[in-house]
Amino acid sequence: MKQTFYIETMGCQMNKLDSELIVNQLIRCGYRRTDDPDQAGVIIFNTCSVRHHAEDKVISKIGQFQRPRRQEDDFVLAVVGCMAERLGQKLLDDYRQVDIVCGPGQLHRLSAMIQQVRENHRVNRVISLNDPDQNDELEQLDVHHQRIDIGVPFQAYLRVMRGCNNYCSYCIVPYVRGPERSRPLENIIAEARRLIAGGVKEITLLGQTVNSYRYHKDTREIGLADVLEAIHEIEGLVRLRFVTSYPRNFDERILQAMARLPKVCPYLHIPAQSGSDRILKAMNRHYTAAQYMEIIDRARAMVPGFTVAGDFIVGFPGETDQDHAETMDLIRKAHYKSCFIFKYSPRPGTRADHKMPDDVPAQVKQQRLRQLLDLQNEISYADNQKFIGQTVEVLVEGPSKKPHLNITGGPQPSSTDSKNSPNLQLVGRTPGDHIVVFSGHENLIGKLVSLKVTKVSALTLFAELLYVS
Ligand code: SAH
Ligand code: SF4
Ligand code: F3S
Repeated sequence: MKQTFYIETMGCQMNKLDSELIVNQLIRCGYRRTDDPDQAGVIIFNTCSVRHHAEDKVISKIGQFQRPRRQEDDFVLAVVGCMAERLGQKLLDDYRQVDIVCGPGQLHRLSAMIQQVRENHRVNRVISLNDPDQNDELEQLDVHHQRIDIGVPFQAYLRVMRGCNNYCSYCIVPYVRGPERSRPLENIIAEARRLIAGGVKEITLLGQTVNSYRYHKDTREIGLADVLEAIHEIEGLVRLRFVTSYPRNFDERILQAMARLPKVCPYLHIPAQSGSDRILKAMNRHYTAAQYMEIIDRARAMVPGFTVAGDFIVGFPGETDQDHAETMDLIRKAHYKSCFIFKYSPRPGTRADHKMPDDVPAQVKQQRLRQLLDLQNEISYADNQKFIGQTVEVLVEGPSKKPHLNITGGPQPSSTDSKNSPNLQLVGRTPGDHIVVFSGHENLIGKLVSLKVTKVSALTLFAELLYVS
């Protein structure tokens, strides 16, 4: 029990990757992972601070571990990640059951911290928060990234940069993840090579503003387009993606690379946040809706099969019906494949929270959220219908998590009770990031297959297997 750990991850892809690096680290130190928290000697919550709700979830989980039996055990509870960074000492002060608080910039110290707490029998609890300097030990965690014991083995995230300098007025990320730092190209390539040699076929490059990757080597300035080119050359790689793009200073070379390099998927996740210039200014986003549309239009003209996903915040302080109407307008114009829509949540310490009252009533936020979701669903559904009868190529990810009944008319077995039957409901993605569900054998997992689309919903394409590519 002492050498087993359980890890739960909230938040974005950055956190998912961090959790994977924690798993790598602990396994190297002789720990074993368990999916059952009751069997774990170490419990780790890798937390997110982006919205109030994300933090609330962790707080209630910490509360669940207040059981006396747990207090007597030698188990260790570690709260790591963005919320650990934001709340710091307060977590130790408020929750007796928390032994370790470790920010995202100190994760390389986690195994030593666990050891330390155990050696002193939990008398002294430990805390380690960000150190803004480029930290080579942290960098080495990424360089030694391996796909073991987690997720889908042939897909991997690869961080190209840490932190963010943008200070959008609502956002906590720059405070908890520190300033923007681009990783050395040679380390990124070494990591990509190791992942691909280990069987990874699809790599998603991560950065909060991934298109602003800049690294200086000798006299050369290396940008994201160079990273895409270098990784594209590695034999064995099938697909390459990158998220999240920031709609400013969008280097045309990135679009050229997307158009020219067959493994680079024609997909951008490029949040607009609002369609109103007034709100964009209050958000400190540094672009107008028209400038945003220029990037989308340019990408659509240059990249065959281009698809785009966006993020929007509804109910930002001062958002009027007119502002909201402008957001609806932008959603129509941008023609997203999908959108992530969030209700504004004030984050302590940010400029919006400090200077602007959260004055849009909860009910209006809810209504605007619903309207944007309905509009996007309508767009996605109409768009997806154009796929009916078409052939799409997908990389098969695994059994579909949700049983999709009635794919081809009759009832289908659900993914859980059909493990031994020849045909499962499998799920994969197109290069443009459309989710496709089809019926097929589990030996197709990890392969590229061609499918014929027979039916669609707003979120999913349903298809039949044609052939394995
Ligand atoms: N780096 C990315 C996004 C990081 S956070 C970018 O700049 O686009 C992911 C998303 O959460 C953001 O795109 C935004 O839509 C949302 N978000 C961030 N802070 C928020 C807040 N305080 N309230 C509600 N949504 C927020
Ligand atoms: Fe947050 Fe803005 Fe940075 Fe994205 S670009 S992480 S929204 S501050
Ligand atoms: Fe990601 Fe949440 Fe941190 S969105 S960067 S895990 S605050």
